[in-house]
Amino acid sequence: MPENVPYIHLRATSPAVLPSLLMCDFGHLADEIARCEAAGAPGLHLDVMDGHFVPNLSYGLPLVETVRRLTRLPLETHLMIAQPEEYVGRYIDAGADVVTFHVEATADPRSVLAEVRMRGAKAGLAFNPPTPLAAVEPFLDECDLVLVMSVHPGFGGQEFEPVALDKLRQLRAREGMRAALEIDGGINEHTIAAAAEAGAHLFVVGSAIFHTKDYRATIGHLTDLAKTRVTT
Ligand code: DX5
Ligand code: ZN
Repeated sequence: MPENVPYIHLRATSPAVLPSLLMCDFGHLADEIARCEAAGAPGLHLDVMDGHFVPNLSYGLPLVETVRRLTRLPLETHLMIAQPEEYVGRYIDAGADVVTFHVEATADPRSVLAEVRMRGAKAGLAFNPPTPLAAVEPFLDECDLVLVMSVHPGFGGQEFEPVALDKLRQLRAREGMRAALEIDGGINEHTIAAAAEAGAHLFVVGSAIFHTKDYRATIGHLTDLAKTRVTT
């Protein structure tokens, strides 16, 4: 594998637009997933919230297991939960291919990253808009993915926070950076190009997909907008 090429499989399809199921119609979950597949989505992003680390509850292991049975697409679980060390193994057992947790949520991010990788999944580290890049820097060598949050986590449909762009630029410019760079929150046709230009490979999109009728057209359009700005 050449130097500087990360091995997370999703980055191979960069720019990759990943639907965030948080914004889907859960009354028709199987249909929604089938529509994402038919639209060419390269993977799905599943937002797990505990009502403690973030001020909202979403879903947990049973939903991830259900989605796993419904699709072969790569699944990323974005754990917005306290003490992720207690849960990462269970999410891998439930079918997550990528387990992303927050640097703010644990005292020992390095060992959680190592555990995820040791169990055969890809390890992602997320950080919130007010959290400085310095908080994740010591752990980059253990990351398959770095998730730069562009909203305060907890809810879909929020406005993009440009502070994420500087963080992406700095991460992208780092010597030997091999992790995939992902952005999550407020990504739509007005913000995706700037995020791509700043260095993101993976783009999590909730409302801007699920509030439209034609997912294929939306994902295609967003991917094209990201492509026009990708530098490498
Ligand atoms: C926010 C979640 C996001 C969110 C994305 O806490 O992590 O994945 O659902 O939704 P939009 O694209 O609507 O901001
Ligand atoms: Zn998310």
